[in-house]
Amino acid sequence: MERFYHITTYGCQMNVHESEKIAGILAELGYKACENIEDADIAVFNTCCIRENAENHAFGNIGMLKKLKSKKRDMIVAVGGCLTQQIGKADILHEKFPYVDIIFGTHNLNKLKEYILKKQKQKKAIIEIEDSEGIICEEDKPLRTSYPNAWINITYGCNNFCSYCIVPYVRGRERSRRSENIIAEAKALIEDGYKEITLLGQNVNSYNNGTDDISFPELLQKIAALDGKFRLRFMTSHPKDFSEELAKVIAANDKICNNVHLPVQSGSNAVLAAMNRKYTAENYLQKVEILKKYVPDCAITTDLIVGFPNETDEDFEATLKLVKEVGFSSAFTFVYSRRNGTVAAKMDGQIPEEVSKQRIMRLVELVNSQTREQSAKYVGRTVEILCEDFDKKKGLYLGRDEHGRMAYFESQNSVIGEFVNVKITAANGVSLTGEIVKE
Ligand code: 5AD
Ligand code: SF4
Repeated sequence: MERFYHITTYGCQMNVHESEKIAGILAELGYKACENIEDADIAVFNTCCIRENAENHAFGNIGMLKKLKSKKRDMIVAVGGCLTQQIGKADILHEKFPYVDIIFGTHNLNKLKEYILKKQKQKKAIIEIEDSEGIICEEDKPLRTSYPNAWINITYGCNNFCSYCIVPYVRGRERSRRSENIIAEAKALIEDGYKEITLLGQNVNSYNNGTDDISFPELLQKIAALDGKFRLRFMTSHPKDFSEELAKVIAANDKICNNVHLPVQSGSNAVLAAMNRKYTAENYLQKVEILKKYVPDCAITTDLIVGFPNETDEDFEATLKLVKEVGFSSAFTFVYSRRNGTVAAKMDGQIPEEVSKQRIMRLVELVNSQTREQSAKYVGRTVEILCEDFDKKKGLYLGRDEHGRMAYFESQNSVIGEFVNVKITAANGVSLTGEIVKE
């Protein structure tokens, strides 16, 4: 009899890739993917807790499963990821949702197979949250779902302790995978037909800090030197560790996309200091200048937070000023979310919701206007697009250029996974539309 799995993923690319690893484990156990959770024999929630709304979203969805689970008693419900790893949260989850069968932490992913096999034989819920600092699992066999792109973890965890951020508490200390394993994984993926490799880490720039292995720019160089036509991306870069050497490596290798995600968070030095970001707005602008010097057409994207404790109107204006100065090609904008256990959660001067709302609206407007302006410049140009998917609603194929800009276009036959030249005919805000041009 066929058995099915359903995975709900919350949060970042790191989690998206982790869900591919979960899918790999479930496939090994003989489960197949299904679209609707109602058809699942096992439902996994891979949670995130970086902001309160991500956490609430997961809680809401797990809560909604009560009815289904009462009808489908044999269904296994498992909850993993960052939410469960917070101190005390596993017990709260268990109390609130006693029908959840397996609760596992971020360091327990490699034991999921064991938990499922155990749960198939016992009634009692399994709750395992390990407080590990150093696990690196090289045995993962992810079931990749984002062809032609493939994610590869290069580091896990984070040592930076930005004062607002919960990641170091739920993902543990920073540790790097051995470069030979990463390079071998990239090589195998390219030989398998993947056309884009994205290296993942909370702070890729500090890859191998303090070890005898190669540095991040050296790693990039080695992967870029592999045979085949493919694109190489990486995220995320912490500005404090972004080096001139890295800018030079990007410039020297065509396969490395001219697109860097460099989260600035704020343009105010007082806020940056309180955030424990370890750079000033001036330092950040210098790094941008270095990057632009070596890679003039580099698309820089960023993350921004408004409403950090004690953020004044002047601080916020400084953020707007920096955004204008850099000219980000796009940005993720967030309202500060108070996370228990972080340093900022204990700070006085929490900003009223209404003020944060006003600020985020102004910031989003500015970012969008910059994105629109940059999109408009594409019209009339021919760009190389790596086709990723087909949009059924629009009836158009879609993909990105090396700067990460999305373009839609028509094609008679499937070109998913192919590089195509597209002449851009219109810009619609963030995305572009165009026509394939034959060489
Ligand atoms: N509140 C709002 N945004 C946050 N981020 C991290 N923690 C918080 C928080 N507590 C944002 C940062 C980071 C991105 C991944 O999420 O901008 O770069
Ligand atoms: Fe969080 Fe800062 Fe680490 Fe990024 S660098 S994961 S924002 S603590």
